[in-house]
Amino acid sequence: MMLTAIGLMSGTSLDGVDVALIETDGRQVRAFGPSGYRPYSEMERRMLRQALYEAVNLPQRDARPGILREAEHVVTLAHAEAVAAFTAQHRISAQEIDIVGFHGQTVLHRPERGMTVQIGDAAALAKSIHIPVMHDFRAADVAAGGQGAPFVPVYHRALAQSLEREGPIVVVNIGGVSNITYIDGTDTLIACDTGPGNALLDDHMYRILNQRFDTAGQTAAQGKVDDAWIRRALTLPFFAKRPPKSLDRNDFAALKVDGMAPADGAATLTAFTAASITRIVPLLPKVPKSWIVAGGGARNLTMLRMLRDRLYPATVEAADGLGWASDAIEAQAFGFLAARGLKGLPLSYPATTGVPIPMTGGVIARP
Ligand SMILES: Nc1ncnc2c1ncn2[C@@H]1O[C@H](COP(=O)(O)OP(=O)(O)O)[C@@H](O)[C@H]1O
Ligand SMILES: [Mg+2]
Repeated sequence: MMLTAIGLMSGTSLDGVDVALIETDGRQVRAFGPSGYRPYSEMERRMLRQALYEAVNLPQRDARPGILREAEHVVTLAHAEAVAAFTAQHRISAQEIDIVGFHGQTVLHRPERGMTVQIGDAAALAKSIHIPVMHDFRAADVAAGGQGAPFVPVYHRALAQSLEREGPIVVVNIGGVSNITYIDGTDTLIACDTGPGNALLDDHMYRILNQRFDTAGQTAAQGKVDDAWIRRALTLPFFAKRPPKSLDRNDFAALKVDGMAPADGAATLTAFTAASITRIVPLLPKVPKSWIVAGGGARNLTMLRMLRDRLYPATVEAADGLGWASDAIEAQAFGFLAARGLKGLPLSYPATTGVPIPMTGGVIARP
């Protein structure tokens, strides 16, 4: 049975809410609908940063002390607004949508402590938009001993099915954190977080130049990469670990480029992301032939150039060039995952999150 699903994603970049419509049976995509975006305001973003900071010491995953309660309310409202604006713009009625996949905002990701926490009130959202909402996708995986991330690989596999590229193919998503999906034929699906994405670079741009990000990679393009800094950073134990493995947004926040000129810092952090993505290659079964880059990082042309240099002779293409909606992929993925969750299909596998057996997940809140 085909379902019409809306997926909602608010990633570790804290930039805003992505919305996407998708028609799917949870195995294949029948049609892509439109996508949309509702940015967070500067005030909302500040509150989310504070929530991440305060979440470090959360005693239980459902506790919402201090600013976390207010931040959860802000996240819920922003998503409700995102859906309302999206459905109004495209003249879609609530009855036409079978399910909404609501990821929420991750404020803490500590799978080794059995904790992955996404804030956002699914029951309130369902009531507000009058559509059933599936949420809490990661909890069952973590409870069963998985990393609880990444969750997009099953969707990357569905997208790659119709792609004519020499395998193995890797889809790399450069959000706040970077994650890869390695696809070799229909059977092999391996995934993990690889290291930083845009978060360190965004934080640097914000702190030093008061810009939210390095538009198109222009600042990094003018800087000089500190190769010794990168070699040192890559000695952190995370990079030698085999997949599956996952990260918290702030796992590398202690790595500073403070002594460098602003452009050199941007160049070095951009190269660090490219280098840590490349570092995964020897940990994969075969050397990938084709790389597809998605997420906001695909708009960073310096990042793409550095990836091309490091991954040569493999090909590196931005997902947009394939007709995929780069910015909407993660939102589409959570619509797809909601459809899978409804059908009890696995969301994660031993080779994507390290969960002992293929695991379904998601919890439904009805309006
Ligand atoms: N035009 C652009 N040039 C360079 N980087 C960009 C551009 N647009 C977005 N980005 C980067 O992408 C990030 C958002 O990516 P996104 O895929 O939404 O990540 P997440 O899933 O973590 O929210 C921004 O914070 C920024 O670093
Ligand atoms: Mg985002």
